[in-house]
Amino acid sequence: MNSKFRERIGREVEEIREAGLFKKERVIASPQGPEIEVNGATVLNFCANNYLGLSDHPKVIEAAHQAIDSRGYGLSSVRFICGTQDIHKELEQKISAFLGTEDTILYAAAFDANGGVFEPLFGEQDAIISDSLNHASIIDGVRLCKAKRFRYEHNNMADLEKQLQDAADSRSRIIVTDGSFSMDGTIAQLDKIVELAAKYDAAVMIDECHSSGFIGKTGRGTHEYRGVLGRIDIITGTLGKALGGASGGFTSGGREVIDMLRQKSRPYLFSNTVAPSIVGASIAVLDMLTKTTELRDKLEYNTKYFRTKMTEAGFDIKPGDHPIVPIMLYDAVVAQDFAASLLEEGIYVIGFFFPVVAKGQARIRVQLSAAHEQAHLDKAITAFTKVGRSMGVLK
Ligand SMILES: Cc1ncc(COP(=O)(O)O)c(C=O)c1O
Repeated sequence: MNSKFRERIGREVEEIREAGLFKKERVIASPQGPEIEVNGATVLNFCANNYLGLSDHPKVIEAAHQAIDSRGYGLSSVRFICGTQDIHKELEQKISAFLGTEDTILYAAAFDANGGVFEPLFGEQDAIISDSLNHASIIDGVRLCKAKRFRYEHNNMADLEKQLQDAADSRSRIIVTDGSFSMDGTIAQLDKIVELAAKYDAAVMIDECHSSGFIGKTGRGTHEYRGVLGRIDIITGTLGKALGGASGGFTSGGREVIDMLRQKSRPYLFSNTVAPSIVGASIAVLDMLTKTTELRDKLEYNTKYFRTKMTEAGFDIKPGDHPIVPIMLYDAVVAQDFAASLLEEGIYVIGFFFPVVAKGQARIRVQLSAAHEQAHLDKAITAFTKVGRSMGVLK
């Protein structure tokens, strides 16, 4: 082993630690759910992307078992060599039907879907116009292609219009935005974005990782919530959050786009097939969500209840409808101490501060789930209020 190299990396890790930016991982010794076992204690979990409570749902687990029994453990291949089973095609069709698109392509992760979507579709003559707070995987994907890059100020439609005008001489233009933004729970103004796209002859792409399955009256996502179903060119999403929580991602859209991605998208061509157990379970999830809106309705109720009670308790919350609820504390040390005190009260949440969010915007991000029961929500609200009073955050 090269000792100079190891020493340099060791020093750099130490610098991260000294700057207070070292990310520690708490170890869970139970399935993911509303109650989890962390460090030998059972705590209430308010920081997973388990929006619909499907990560440990008996029907999902049963479907995963059945898929292992009938289709095996793994495919040991990329899709185009010998890695496509009937269930992969079935899942792609079900995702398309759910989202209202023509076709869908699966990836090992949404990170790969975003990483592999731009380069096959856009070249030097084209322009990608991206919200400044878009997910890291979109940023990386855009970097991998030769299109001209334009950034608009987060959620600012006037600036988006200006960027569209600046990109006017490009062959194709595409506006790219997260459907729901994971730090603030902001839901993109897709109705306005679609109008601007029509005015400037641009396509629209949304990343629905924090939307698919629960945003909109039947959970189709941001395009349903904003009343623009059928008007989005490209939708990327994950199977690793609301739709079961294992892993896997997808890109969905027009037939030609998906055909081209199957031919040229590198994370699809050069990476292994999604495992049969995940595919079988995801089919069961989509069947469940197509039959009933029960889970997304419960999540909506939980979200409204928690947001209302926390506001009444005196907390400063970013307003909105999303189950991501940012409790604003502004100070990084306060956010960290607050989260540590909540853990002692049996509530597991995470404090976010610079550089994850802007300086002076430290917060605790609560994520609600359909798996939370009334008693869980009430226990969390009581604990937040107790810690808030003892730390002087609440009067
Ligand atoms: C907006 C957004 N896009 C993409 C991803 C990547 O998803 P995956 O975990 O499936 O790679 C995430 C996950 O953090 C996300 O929040």
